[in-house]
Amino acid sequence: MGVGEAADNLRMRLAAWAVGGHEFLESIRINTACALFGVRKTMALYRRGSKVVLACRSLKRGQEAAVVVEGAAPLPGCEAGKLEVVELDLGSLASVRELVQAWDTHKEPLDILICNAGVMAPPKRLQTEDGFEQQFQVNYLGHWLLARGLVAAQRRRRRKHSGEDKAHGMRVLFLSSLAHIAGDINFGDLQLRQQYSGFRGYSASKLAAVLATAEFQRRFERDTEGCGADTAVAVHPGLINTALARGWLLSSSIPMPPGLRQLVAPVIEPLLRAAAPLLLLPPSHAVATMLYAAGAPADEVAGRYVAHWRVRPPSRRARDPKLAARLWAESCRLTDTPLEPEL
Ligand SMILES: NC(=O)c1ccc[n+]([C@@H]2O[C@H](COP(=O)([O-])OP(=O)(O)OC[C@H]3O[C@@H](n4cnc5c(N)ncnc54)[C@H](OP(=O)(O)O)[C@@H]3O)[C@@H](O)[C@H]2O)c1
Repeated sequence: MGVGEAADNLRMRLAAWAVGGHEFLESIRINTACALFGVRKTMALYRRGSKVVLACRSLKRGQEAAVVVEGAAPLPGCEAGKLEVVELDLGSLASVRELVQAWDTHKEPLDILICNAGVMAPPKRLQTEDGFEQQFQVNYLGHWLLARGLVAAQRRRRRKHSGEDKAHGMRVLFLSSLAHIAGDINFGDLQLRQQYSGFRGYSASKLAAVLATAEFQRRFERDTEGCGADTAVAVHPGLINTALARGWLLSSSIPMPPGLRQLVAPVIEPLLRAAAPLLLLPPSHAVATMLYAAGAPADEVAGRYVAHWRVRPPSRRARDPKLAARLWAESCRLTDTPLEPEL
C-alpha cells in the first residue's frame, strides 16, 4: 500500500468515525446501484458486493474505469461485486429515455440511483443537442428525467410482482454542491441566453438539484398506493480533488484576460495541480458522505441535504416548496412529460 492510499484509508476511517462508527459504513449493503460515473463511489459499492451499473457518456472511459474498479478486492466479509458499463449522455434527452426504456424491459430491481455526473462553469455558454444550456441539462434536467423514469419503472415493477417487499424502496441521490447557496432560478431566463456566467449556471443547476430532491420526496410521501418507501437525498460531497474542481480552480483562481492566461498557463497550471491536494479534500471524503446518504435510515435523511456526513440546512431558496413545485412543472413542460402520472 502506497503512502497516498494509506492516508486515504486513514481519512476514510476518520470519516466513518464521524458518522457514528466504522461499523456503520462497513455495514452498508446495496444490491443494485446505477451510478452516473464516479469511479471511487462505484468502487466503494462494488467492494461491498453490490451490482453496479456504471452509466457514462464514453463507453471507452467507462471500460477503463471498470478495469480499475474490478481490480479492487472485496471488503472483509463481502463477495466481489458485479459491474456493468452502459452508455448515457445526459446532454441528450433521447439517451436518457433509452436507458430508462432498457431498464424497464430488462433490468432487475434498483436500490439506489446516484445522480453524480456534472460539469462546472464552462467559460462560454454551451448548448446541448436539445437546445438547453449545458449545465442546466447535464447537472439537473437529465438527472431529473432519469430519476423520474427509473422510479416510475421500479414502481410498475413492484406492482406487477406482488410478492416483492413493497416497503423496500429505491433511494435517489442528487449530487448538489455548497454552490447552491449562490444559486437562483430565473424562469425568465432559465437557459441563461440573456446573461451568462459559468458559475451562475452551475449554482442554479445545483440549487435545482436540492429543489428536485425535496419535490421528489414530497411526491413519494403522498403516494397512496403503498408502492414502496422511495426516498431522495441531496448531497454536497465537499470540495474534492477531482478533474471538475481542479478545472474550476485553474480557470477561476487568478482572474486574467484569456490571451495572458494562455501565455502563463504552462507555469501556473502545474503549480496549481501540485497544490490541489492541499487545497481540496481527497475523494474518500466524498465516498464517505455518499455512503452515509445512501445507507442512513430514511427518517434521518429523506428529502434532506447532506454535507460532510451530516444532514445540514440548505439555503432558504432551496427550502421553498412553491419554487420546487414550479421547477417540477417547468421540467415536465421542457421534457414534454405529463405533469401527474405516477410521479
Ligand atoms: N469536486 C468537487 O469539489 C465537488 C464539489 C461539489 C459538488 N460536486 C459535484 O459532485 C459530482 C461529481 O463531481 P466530481 O468532482 O467527481 O467530478 P468529475 O470527476 O469531473 O466527474 C464528473 C463526471 O460527470 C461526467 N459527465 C459530464 N458530462 C456528462 C454527460 N453529458 N453525460 C454523462 N456524464 C457526464 C464526466 O464524464 P466524462 O469523463 O465523460 O467527462 C465525469 O466522469 C458533480 O455533480 C459535481 O458537481 C463536486
